[in-house]
Parts: sequence; structure tokens; C-alpha cells
Amino acid sequence: MAEANPGHLIVDLAFGFVLSGALATVAKFGISDMLREAPQTSEQLAAKLDVDAPSLYRVMRSLASVGVFTQDPQNRFHLRSAGQLMCTSEPGSLRDAVLMITQDIFWKPVGQLDHVVKTGTNGMVEIFGAPFFDYFKINEDAGNTFHRGMSSLSDLENAPIAGAYDYSGIDTIVDVGGGHGGFLIEVLKCAPKARGINYDHAHVLAEARVNELPGRWSCVEGDFFKSVPPGDAYLLKRIIHDWTDEDCITILKNIRRAMNPGAKVLIVDCVIPEGDAAHGGKLLDILMMSALPGRERTEAEFKSLFERSGLKLSRTITTPALLSITEAVAAES
Ligand SMILES: C[S@@+](CC[C@H](N)C(=O)[O-])C[C@H]1O[C@@H](n2cnc3c(N)ncnc32)[C@H](O)[C@@H]1O
Repeated sequence: MAEANPGHLIVDLAFGFVLSGALATVAKFGISDMLREAPQTSEQLAAKLDVDAPSLYRVMRSLASVGVFTQDPQNRFHLRSAGQLMCTSEPGSLRDAVLMITQDIFWKPVGQLDHVVKTGTNGMVEIFGAPFFDYFKINEDAGNTFHRGMSSLSDLENAPIAGAYDYSGIDTIVDVGGGHGGFLIEVLKCAPKARGINYDHAHVLAEARVNELPGRWSCVEGDFFKSVPPGDAYLLKRIIHDWTDEDCITILKNIRRAMNPGAKVLIVDCVIPEGDAAHGGKLLDILMMSALPGRERTEAEFKSLFERSGLKLSRTITTPALLSITEAVAAES
């Protein structure tokens, strides 16, 4: 690949936050939902939203310049395919994902990344007064934005990841920290004989997708730092990357204690490649460092976590998505 002009590369990297702000603004105002009804000028949009029309125009123009919207000769903005994905009711809508990713619980800690690097401690407690998941007990709105966004982001990847594994012979599948259940539902579609347990905090399970595949799965409330239900396969999707090694070992030891003979542990997270290779996990890792105590890991780091938890790595399966499935079994089996 040809090397980018080094000056442009640096300037583009430094400006990256500007488009995030523009995208967050149109997501908050629900602009795509309004444009789905009819193409509109920024004046028409601004009148309905009671916002400043010239300012809105400049935000819309910036996003038209990168392919989210397009502007016609009458200055009406139309949705392009990317803009359509910001409609609330669109299948695979990413509006909630954008609201989550651009939420201040990520934005502010990354804004003081130099301080995070200096102290080696994520910014949540200093900025918001509580660790990441505890903060949602104080600020319910932030929690709802996060969990809805996670479900939306996960919907992009759940089916291809679920389809990358063979669940033959597995009866009970426990999704540890399964959120609203989107991944478990896709896994159960690939494992027609299995039944599922979606394990998470009660306030998260309150919005679980209980109307999908009814009768095949149930919700169980609990804390994975204390215990997990018995099962034949454990899914941990985007869980291990949230936590320190010591925290992960506590979770994995709880699974080791609860797992039925022959059970599989399936960690669904990025596996960071060695060297300079481009990989989305290397950026996600910065979020895990800034707002949470977690990290993205290499295969060797997963192997070490398993060994310290009474488990052993059996294989790593790549999927069509960014995340891989790292499989472990009991060490002595
Ligand atoms: C990053 S989200 C991942 C959600 C889901 N697995 C997915 O991929 O969309 C982490 C999940 O872990 C849950 N969680 C955090 N701490 C927990 C705990 N101590 N016990 C159970 N669930 C917990 C959160 O509520 C959240 O649903």
C-alpha cells in the first residue's frame, strides 16, 4: 500500500474528533428519521427542531462531504445509505451505537488520554466519580444509552460470529454479561437443540429481547464476580476486554467452578495481531484503557489468563467480524 502523504496523515488524524461531533449531533436530533419522511433543507429541519439553521446547515454539509447525506440543487438534504443506518427503525440501525460511542463516558476520558497514560489509571472515577459499570447505577440515562448502543453495535456482528462455531452436543449455553440477549439469540438459531441463559444485571435484563425465540432461553440476574449458572458452553462477548487480568481470572474461575464436565468457554473479543498490522482492536484498546480498567489482548495473553484460571486454550477461531472466538476447556480434562 502506498504511504499516505505524511503531513495529510497527521492533520487528518488530529481532526478525527470533528466528524464524531457532527455525527453525534445528527444522531441526537434524529435528523435521519426526519429525512426519511422527506428530503429537507436545513431551514426546514431547524424550524422543526427549534435550533439555529445556519449552524445545522454547516453540520449537515460536513456530513454530506463524507457520504452520510447528499445535498440537491434546492439545498435539500437526502439520506445516503450510511445516513439511512442512522434512522431509528432501520434494520441494523446504528443510531444507538453512535449515541453510545460518542457518549461523554468515552469522549471525556479519551480527551485526557495523556493523563490516563501518565497515571496508568482510567479516567472514570476522576471525571464521573465511579468506575464504568458502577456509574450506571448513579446515572440511569447513561446506562440506558450504553446498553442500547451495545445492542445496536452488536447486531452488526452477532450473526456472523455465531455462525462461525459448531455447537453440536451442547445443551445449555450461558451468555455471561449477555446484555439484551442479541448474541445468545443468534447462537441459539445456530444451535437448534440447545437452550440458553442470558446472565446480566437486573436493570439490563429489564430491556432484554424476550419476544425473540420465546421458550428457548431465559434471563438470570446475577454478578459474574460472585458466581455464574451451570452450563455446557459459556459465551463472553466483549466482556473480558472490560477488565484487568485479576478481574478476568475471578470471572473465569467462577466459570471453571460452575461448568459441566466437557464444557467450553468461548471468549468473543479482539485478538490483537503482532506488529503494525491495522486492526480495529488497537483503537478499541484505547477506549478500554481510558474509560475502563480493561484491555484488548493477544492470543498469548488469553492463554496466560486461562492458565491462571484452571483452564487451557484449545483453539482460536477467526470470524467474518472484528472479533475472534478464543475457546478454552478445563485444564485437567
Ligand atoms: C460491553 S457489554 C457487552 C454486552 C454483550 N455481551 C454484547 O456483546 O453486546 C458488557 C456487559 O457486561 C455486563 N456486566 C458488567 N458487569 C457485570 C457483572 N458484575 N455481572 C454481570 N454482568 C455484568 C454489563 O451489564 C453489560 O451488559
